[in-house]
Formats: sequence, structure tokens, C-alpha cells
Amino acid sequence: MDSSLLSVLLAAAVLLCSAAPVDRHGESDTHCPLMVKILDAVKGVPAGAVTLSVSRRVNETTWAQVASGMTDLTGEVHNLISDQDFQSGVYRVEFDTKAYWKSQGTTPFHETAEVVFEAHAEGHRHYTLALLLSPFSYTTTAVVMKAHE
Ligand SMILES: *[C@@H]1O[C@H](CO)[C@@H](O)[C@H](O)[C@H]1NC(C)=O
Repeated sequence: MDSSLLSVLLAAAVLLCSAAPVDRHGESDTHCPLMVKILDAVKGVPAGAVTLSVSRRVNETTWAQVASGMTDLTGEVHNLISDQDFQSGVYRVEFDTKAYWKSQGTTPFHETAEVVFEAHAEGHRHYTLALLLSPFSYTTTAVVMKAHE
């Protein structure tokens, strides 16, 4: 799968997120401040049932888990974390990619795939993390959008 296809799939995921039901205040995207989309580059399908955890950096040596989830059949996780629990700070999203590959009958190279980033450093944002998985390689891309005001 090439990167342009990843971009298309990612755009679809972002659209899906912003198409969430609009509440009374018109805050249509408050439901997904952090979205995930995972694709299996061997089969060319979404990677379902991938578990992941989100941790926030407390200090130089300590991380605190703030959310966890599992991708659905579309390789996505919605409602992973609320705006309230997703304040400014440094976050680590750890994907249990080894368990995924084992379930596919493959022994992968990486124990996990990780994305570590600083959230909301320049104002409130919404994030979509895309992950393209292979047994010996992974690629990750972030889509950062200004939150609806
Ligand atoms: C980091 O935070 C943890 C949990 O609050 C605490 O136990 C630890 O002493 C802190 N470490 C440093 C270096 O401040």
C-alpha cells in the first residue's frame, strides 16, 4: 500500500469523526479529540482488534495510563478519550502490534508500536493517528486539526 492510499483512508477516518452527531452547542467534534486508524499493509485491510493504551507523562520517569481501547473492524477507535481527560501534555499511545501479528500467524519484529507527542502545545487541537503495519516495519502519520470553536 502506498502513502497516497494511506492519506485517502486517513481522510475518510477524519471525515467519519467530524460526521459524529452534532450536539446542541454545535460541538460536533468534541467526541473525538484523539482518533486512531490502523491498516494492515500485508493484507491491505483495516487492522481490527488491535489493543492500545494512552499514557500521559507525569514527570521524567513516570507515565500514567489515561485511556485504553481496541480497534473495530474498520481499524478505528472512537471515544478513546474525552476532552476533559486530554489536556495539554505529552502523551504516549502504545499499540500492541505483536499480539495483532501473532493472531495473524506471523511473528513480528517489534514488541509494540508507539507514538509519543505533545498535545495542544499551540492551542486546542484534534488528532488522528494513522498507523500502517507490516511485520518488520511500521509507518505512522498524524493529522492535526484545529478544534471546532
Ligand atoms: C514522578 O511522579 C511519581 C508519581 O507521582 C513519583 O512517585 C516520583 O517520585 C516522581 N519522580 C520524580 C523524579 O519527580
